[in-house]
Amino acid sequence: MSKPRGVLVAGNWKMNHGPAATRGFLETLGKLEFPSAIVQRASRGRALQGAILVPAVSLEAARSVIDAQGWSDVLQVGAQNAHFEASGAFTGELSGPLLKEIGVNLALVGHSERRQYFGETDESAGKRTASLLSQGFEVILCVGENRSERKTGRTKAVLSKQLTEAFQAAQSWMTSRGLELTPTHWARLAIAYEPVWAIGTGLTASPEQAQDAHLFIRTWLEKSAKTAGFPLPPAQTTAILYGGSVTPDNFSGLLACPDVDGGLVGGASLKPESFLKLIEAAAQVI
Ligand code: PGA
Repeated sequence: MSKPRGVLVAGNWKMNHGPAATRGFLETLGKLEFPSAIVQRASRGRALQGAILVPAVSLEAARSVIDAQGWSDVLQVGAQNAHFEASGAFTGELSGPLLKEIGVNLALVGHSERRQYFGETDESAGKRTASLLSQGFEVILCVGENRSERKTGRTKAVLSKQLTEAFQAAQSWMTSRGLELTPTHWARLAIAYEPVWAIGTGLTASPEQAQDAHLFIRTWLEKSAKTAGFPLPPAQTTAILYGGSVTPDNFSGLLACPDVDGGLVGGASLKPESFLKLIEAAAQVI
């Protein structure tokens, strides 16, 4: 099997692993000969990429160990959120320039826990996406329906609304600054489909449910490109990751779906042994 868009395995550590635990995780990964699985595959010319999205206090520790090990081509370090403004009175927030200063160029945006507990909206997620992309960041933008939306058959309507509002807000953000999102920017965007009912619950979407939602998102991008009146991420080349109770046991089945281009993994990314198994599952489909 081959994956035309490559495969990204991104671990979302949430509020776990301070700097000491981060160093310990990476040290163990090194002992497990982490890079060999990924480097051998990468040398075949297709992209298999790992990433860890770590707590803010652990970014520098992760960055420096990964640099020292020479793994920066295969394992990226990312933030779990970043503000759209570059600086200012936004207590508790991190910005693109602050992250760049410590060598971080990847951020997660619009995670459902940010939406659920911290008031993030489609609009703020869209602004963060636009701002970070325009600063040269790689961005993973999360969307996904909750349990009652799935039960009442509204999954696609919800995804469509989330994408519409986020990309409209991204466009307004750029226009208000006289900027434009170009194909170079869009090439750094991945969308993560994360059904809220599957996050941290052990209830994974079946491969059929994941493929159905991923294809819907890709088709939405294709159709909306003709009607939106402003640029959108390209449908065929934008990576769409699945997230929600991914484990080493169910990841292969999800990756077998043609429109699943990787995973955004919480719980199963916290232990190096398990993270490596996810990478190895991804290596099988590259
Ligand atoms: P989970 O989390 O893998 O623990 O369900 C996924 C996520 O929230 O990104």
